[in-house]
Amino acid sequence: MEKKESYLRKELRSLLFGVHVAVVRCLQWGDTGKGKMVDVLMFWADIIIRGTGGDNAGHTIMNNGKKKVFHIIPSGILGDKKGKVTIIGPGTVVYPKALVDELLNLGKQGLTYKHLKISKNAKLILPTHIFEDRAKELKSADAKIGTTGKGIGPAYSDHFARIGLTMNDLLNEDVFRKKLKRHLSYKQHLLDYPQDKAKKIMACDHLMAGIFYDPDELFNFEQIVYHYVHVFGVSLQNYIVDTDKIIQKALKEKKNILIEGAQGDLLSVDYGTYPFVTSSDASLEGLLKGCGLRAEDVDLDLGIIKGFVQTRVGSGPFPSEAGGSMSELYCAKHSRVEEEDRYTEVDINSENEFEAGLALRRKAQEYGATTGRPRRVGYLDLPLLKNSLKRSNANTRLVLTKLDILSGKKIIKICTHYVYKGPNYFDGQIMYVEGSTVEEPPMDSYFLENCSPVYKEFPGWSEDIREVRKYKYLPKELKDILEFILDFVGMEQDPAIISVGADREETIVL
Ligand code: IMP
Ligand code: MG
Repeated sequence: MEKKESYLRKELRSLLFGVHVAVVRCLQWGDTGKGKMVDVLMFWADIIIRGTGGDNAGHTIMNNGKKKVFHIIPSGILGDKKGKVTIIGPGTVVYPKALVDELLNLGKQGLTYKHLKISKNAKLILPTHIFEDRAKELKSADAKIGTTGKGIGPAYSDHFARIGLTMNDLLNEDVFRKKLKRHLSYKQHLLDYPQDKAKKIMACDHLMAGIFYDPDELFNFEQIVYHYVHVFGVSLQNYIVDTDKIIQKALKEKKNILIEGAQGDLLSVDYGTYPFVTSSDASLEGLLKGCGLRAEDVDLDLGIIKGFVQTRVGSGPFPSEAGGSMSELYCAKHSRVEEEDRYTEVDINSENEFEAGLALRRKAQEYGATTGRPRRVGYLDLPLLKNSLKRSNANTRLVLTKLDILSGKKIIKICTHYVYKGPNYFDGQIMYVEGSTVEEPPMDSYFLENCSPVYKEFPGWSEDIREVRKYKYLPKELKDILEFILDFVGMEQDPAIISVGADREETIVL
């Protein structure tokens, strides 16, 4: 095992030769295995930083045979004992309670966080945000985004509406009180929400079982001040710093910086399948801004896709979903436990698309790391991948993960374009009518919902590939599909890394 790892490191060192800033991010709807990639690259990094999102993220890492899941804390924290600095950047939104809980949990597992730094400019998630997120989702089933209920959207909205607070405010009680008072004055309309329902939301575990609830005002001002400033603030005070300074110094000193993306390009509020997206810009530019970096700082941009499949959690268009709307409805209503009880034997080669998708989900363990929801599973969508790659540059290389899952699948379908089902739609100057071919779809969910996928089918491979460590030993069928994809999306560079299993060593470097 030791030997294999050093072989992997040698390969990685040549990939990382001359690189000082590397990005690991997802080109799909999240959950493509960023956690594992950060773990693989961690030996090289001096600093690991996250720039967007909050505890909506769920990054899973297999560490010494044990599964670790991180939410707001960058997975880089696993390098703390080796002196690596882990940063929660200025573009993130932080619910201090979730952060403190996660830190306590680390402690229980014998992990340390001595070198953790939290940007003083990271945005605060307040109880109002969690309330608004949940109330909005409950309001109308049709318009449901399927958020994680962590208050992410309202926290970002309030930042832009100029009524937000930052982590630095935890350090100054007077300022916190003034800003919170002003913040709550803009939340008076929430008092109109039916009281029984409001009370129920406020009583959820995430809001500390009703501690912030006030029957007259909805939010209990003093309790928020007490917990934010005196409980969480005190626990976190030594970690809140100016992270921009650390980053600028690291750039000058040519330290190695690893940027850990959150969510994915298709969930970016600016470039994703709007409105079924998260509320931050999860694209390369958004990530960099949220870390205090610029595009020209980046030497290697690793864009991850799942090996020939695609998944999403929550609502929203997914043209290549296996089993279509049946799968979407099913995933919204059923839990993992129900699924495991009900479907004991499922086959990835089933002719029933819904069942084939379900079997892939079971095999790949595609359940939300944050919410536990079954992820919707489908086939690689190249029109959407082209959209994600539009803003890539010469330093962008693909990474493919989870390719081992498809071993034994007889036919592999790849979506190359859509056929539009109408009604007439103008995408700028392009008009789509019923029957139009769609190669570069507008990122508008009203349009995407009316698209039928067209697939190219490839023969699959039967062998287990988890032991393969060199590209040339991968099955020919797999390499043919990969070459087709690279050619189709116009990617001139080879992929940088192919992951053939959950463990660190189950990795091929090209
Ligand atoms: P929010 O980020 O909680 O507002 O949720 C908005 C959408 O993004 C929902 O469809 C979520 O399921 C999705 N989402 C948010 N974070 C993640 C993630 O880390 N992985 C996958 N999907 C996510
Ligand atoms: Mg995830």
